[in-house]
Amino acid sequence: MQKIAIYPGSFDPVTNGHVDIAQRGLRLFDKIIVAILSNPGKDFLFTVEERIEMLESSFEEYPNIEVGTFDGLLVDYAAKKDSIAILRGMRAVSDFEYEFQLALMNRKLNREVQTVFLMTSLRWIFTSSSIIKEAAQFGGDIKGMVPPIVNEKLKKKFKRTR
Ligand code: PNS
Repeated sequence: MQKIAIYPGSFDPVTNGHVDIAQRGLRLFDKIIVAILSNPGKDFLFTVEERIEMLESSFEEYPNIEVGTFDGLLVDYAAKKDSIAILRGMRAVSDFEYEFQLALMNRKLNREVQTVFLMTSLRWIFTSSSIIKEAAQFGGDIKGMVPPIVNEKLKKKFKRTR
């Protein structure tokens, strides 16, 4: 049986840290489904379509990484996709409390799905979508922290507002 893991997130936008976690996930699972939260109530910089495009481009060389979207409960999506685990990246200690809450709530909602945490490479410990967006907004060079397509899209997005 194929071991499938869901790697959920906002991915607004995907960073090299996310790419690193998904690649590491492939060492444990046969298939990773990178699942974008498409909750319309949340304020995202990029549309779902843009986020799908960026993720698909970032993982085009990985046939075992699939890109999907979900709204509603993550555990329901995980069950629908026959996945045995939810994969999350852990950076610094500051991530811990939120991740702990999320994992415990998900376990309460569905005991069959396990949460697996993987540590990012040291290079990406301080990389987050929000800090990247802020730097890009004020013209900072974020090349090397995000896949090339994300760098281009951020440049375009903020050209109009600067
Ligand atoms: O990258 P993010 O924004 O930290 O990802 C958060 C995400 C998408 C994993 C989380 O918000 C989520 O799973 N949302 C879906 C609703 C849900 O199931 N929440 C957890 C139990 S209340």
